[in-house]
Amino acid sequence: MKIITSINEMQQLSLSLKREGKRVAFVPTMGFLHEGHTSLLREGRRRGDILVLSIFVNPIQFGANEDLDRYPRNLDGDCTIARECGVDLVFTPTAGEMYPPGFQTSIRVRELALPLCGASRPGHFDGVATVVTKLFNIVQPDVALFGNKDFQQLAVIRRMIADLALPVEIIGLPIVREADGLAMSSRNAYLSPDERRSALCLSRAIHIVRERYAAGERRANVLRDEALKLIAAEPAATIDYLELRDAATLEPATDASDTTLMALAVKIGTTRLIDNTLMCDER
Ligand code: PAF
Repeated sequence: MKIITSINEMQQLSLSLKREGKRVAFVPTMGFLHEGHTSLLREGRRRGDILVLSIFVNPIQFGANEDLDRYPRNLDGDCTIARECGVDLVFTPTAGEMYPPGFQTSIRVRELALPLCGASRPGHFDGVATVVTKLFNIVQPDVALFGNKDFQQLAVIRRMIADLALPVEIIGLPIVREADGLAMSSRNAYLSPDERRSALCLSRAIHIVRERYAAGERRANVLRDEALKLIAAEPAATIDYLELRDAATLEPATDASDTTLMALAVKIGTTRLIDNTLMCDER
């Protein structure tokens, strides 16, 4: 496994591998890898001749008062996991390499990036779309893999790929959960043992809503109220948003259907966690 920090080296290597007819699979991450990431890497290994992992904590997708400085990092641990998953190339540039002095270009996806995380983290998806476009230009992937946990991120990336005719196949993979239901996230590392227990209110809210939906409830406001009630009963939790929306357009839903998305962001203490489900989740 080769570790690369230079944009030029990564790009030249990818271009020459592709000239040899190799199919490049790519998993972009911010590191501190967990089983959510390893599911992407294993699927990427299956789909590509060459598997590239990027590890880059992207400063332009963090707001001024967010956790950029304390975002968990562990490059050695990540490289061990990457080796186990059969990664060929790890691309881990510095912020200076990605955003040298004078950098001033941004990619903005409009409507899909406005609600949910876009509303509570203004500019976040501009940062994501910009870095993903740049990473795609550097790594030149044939296929790129993302987790469904960042549902809106995936929707924004798919829209951007279609709108800009980028020649990359995008694969979304199911949320990976701990045995007790908590969705895997690098930010789970911030939780104290008590907070870790409180954080289960997110997956419990999902569970109860899916049960009510399976039992025939279709009124989006009733489903939403069930989830809100459950989370409000957890003293450590502060709701950022909890909404039912159409999974394709992210427009608010009044009547739920199988393709209605429930997405939520909840602060447990100071840690902001997100989770989501489709009413009939076969992802
Ligand atoms: O999902 C992530 O880890 C990041 O948002 C991504 C896609 C790697 C862009 O920085």
